[in-house]
Amino acid sequence: MKERILKILRTEQTVVSGESLSAMLGVSRVSVWKHIAKLREHGYHIVANAKGYRLSEEIDALFPWEFPKRAFQIHFFPETGSTMDIARDLARKGCPDFTVVIAERQTKGRGRLKRVWHSADGGLYFTVVTRPLLPPVHSFRVCFAASVALAETLRTLYKIDAGVKWPNDILVDGRKLSGMLSEMEAEADRVAYIAIGIGINVNNDPCVYEADAVSISQLLGRKVSRKRLLTCFLDLFETKLHSQALDNIVTEWKRRTITLDRAVKIVTVKETLEGVARDIDLTGALVLELDDGTTRNVVYGDCFLKNQ
Ligand code: BTN
Repeated sequence: MKERILKILRTEQTVVSGESLSAMLGVSRVSVWKHIAKLREHGYHIVANAKGYRLSEEIDALFPWEFPKRAFQIHFFPETGSTMDIARDLARKGCPDFTVVIAERQTKGRGRLKRVWHSADGGLYFTVVTRPLLPPVHSFRVCFAASVALAETLRTLYKIDAGVKWPNDILVDGRKLSGMLSEMEAEADRVAYIAIGIGINVNNDPCVYEADAVSISQLLGRKVSRKRLLTCFLDLFETKLHSQALDNIVTEWKRRTITLDRAVKIVTVKETLEGVARDIDLTGALVLELDDGTTRNVVYGDCFLKNQ
């Protein structure tokens, strides 16, 4: 009902009488009034006067009904610890493929390598639960598909020249715009689920916590709609997951990456390595050429580009 009321008010862009709304929706005027009251509680600016109701201003809401095509897959939280925890619980309970958990705020946002992900107002924080028919060794393809889809979305919507830094960070001119975290459960030969958690600096100022970070609004000099960004990203990511594109994802990723053939420093939980990032192997590991000419395949770690 919320979705239908908003659709009418957005289409009409003027005052719509309670009578018209109740006729269009097939419910009583009292029921219309109650739904409008609920929408206002959710923060929608709906002006009511003797003539009826009008949506006076848009808000950048991420409620499930704002994504009509996939509302049934979306779980929205005004505040939660981490969307990764909610996603894991849903996945273990058998939620469908491409379930999306969104949080307006996270109090315990997690980054890779046990870092904290600060989740300031205005950013976009979500986790997508995917259930690809893949052996665990190919799970990295899902993460690569997500980072390629995000880079393409940023380019298409805002003409932002976004590059992917191994494994899945999105950088613009050396500054971090988005980070990605993945968690997987699998049986011996089959992935049960992969939860891809993504934090995007959209209308927030990330420099408060991280000097080398940037947001979309800082790049463009204006605020943008998180709803539009998320809609486009989910559509593209889903297309890439459910098509032949997944088989070619390493080629696509290489086209978008800023890591290969660069001098890098890789920090893993055990050691720090320096060399030139030469390639990606069949498992998504980074092939690093060390100074002595030997190569090491690095499965997990943080990558720092040298000589930026
Ligand atoms: C990184 O760059 O270290 C990864 C950051 C991932 C942050 C996102 S925000 C949504 C999801 N929930 C979390 O707690 N973390 C991920």
